[in-house]
Amino acid sequence: MIKSTIDIDFSKIDDILKSYNYEKSSLIAILQKVQELYKYLPEEAITYIGERMEGLSPATVYGVATFYAQFSLEPKGKYEIKVCDGTACHVRGSSGVLAAIKEKLNLEKGKFTTADGLFSLEIVSCLGACGLAPAIVVNGTVHPQMTPDAVSTIIDTLVSKERG
Ligand code: FES
Repeated sequence: MIKSTIDIDFSKIDDILKSYNYEKSSLIAILQKVQELYKYLPEEAITYIGERMEGLSPATVYGVATFYAQFSLEPKGKYEIKVCDGTACHVRGSSGVLAAIKEKLNLEKGKFTTADGLFSLEIVSCLGACGLAPAIVVNGTVHPQMTPDAVSTIIDTLVSKERG
């Protein structure tokens, strides 16, 4: 797991835990709320939740957080790239687009955020833009009919923008 570099406000996590009465059955909802705060689940937050909730342990909470695809244990990048691999996009070549993005970002196996924190990658099952397949979304903007070359150009453009 990547170590977080942000300050965790544990009182906010306490407020969330209290609002769910520390109910074990609300663990998913609690993790969702904490993820809304930080855009991912920092390791310290997972440990804290596991220690504060009766009958749970940090390892159990970590297990739940890693089981569900909706939770991210890595910080998001400045540019969040969502790649759709749903049916419509898949049959139109999303695998090649995804492979091109991973290669371009030089992401190690199992990692979804670049070491410089500039990009993060998320694979989703539909972006609601099936007519534009294969589609990706970068920070909320839909890019239709992607190809490996097209995504490469988008990433190059963002990198040059960062370099000024
Ligand atoms: S399947 Fe890709 S946008 Fe719907």
